[in-house]
Amino acid sequence: MRIDIITVVPDILTSPFEVSILKRAIEKGLVEIHLHNLRDYVTDNYKQIDDYQFGGGAGMVMMIEPIDKCISALKSERNYDEIIYMTPDGERFNQRMANSLSLKENIIILCGHYKGVDQRVRDHFITREISIGDYVLSGGELAAAVVCDSIIRLIPGVLGNETSALTDSFQDDLLAPPVYTRPAEYKGWKVPEILTSGNFPKIETWREEQSYLRTKKLRPDLLGEY
Ligand code: 6GU
Repeated sequence: MRIDIITVVPDILTSPFEVSILKRAIEKGLVEIHLHNLRDYVTDNYKQIDDYQFGGGAGMVMMIEPIDKCISALKSERNYDEIIYMTPDGERFNQRMANSLSLKENIIILCGHYKGVDQRVRDHFITREISIGDYVLSGGELAAAVVCDSIIRLIPGVLGNETSALTDSFQDDLLAPPVYTRPAEYKGWKVPEILTSGNFPKIETWREEQSYLRTKKLRPDLLGEY
């Protein structure tokens, strides 16, 4: 998979890919991340990427021309499955969308800033608009990092234990059950006995019950789809 990220602040997006699982995924050649600074696609001397909105109103709007230049340059090199715009008024991101995006070959992610982009960018270049939740971030970069992390970890070979992504919270519309490790007792706080019983069918049933109870308590909305 190849992900091209278009941004006005590429620095925000360097460290997430330089450590841990994402770093290893890149080193293994399972994913390529390419950051593109929108300012490199501006022709005027002032390196202007935003301007006042027509009709008046507070906030700057990202201009269409640098974005067109950047996206067109990328599209001339290869075909893209999706051109995603990160914006708080996009479709709310979830595990289902992560699963589906993890199967794509080439993706462009455009990070929004200021008051957003000129609507013509959305109308003519963007195939999908994604938000990561109902709150506002200063820009789409952190949201893009979230989306990239969630899809890259699903690519076969990225996680050591292939089954571990399948037992994540949300993968079956349930939250994950509680987990414990040594010591079996700490300051008098004990691990549930069932987990040290060695009775694996019973442990499995216990985990399913715990998942259900946790979901019912914290995220009853998920059970509507279960
Ligand atoms: Cl994708 N962008 C911004 N600026 N804020 C957000 C978001 C995206 N998703 C949730 N809040």
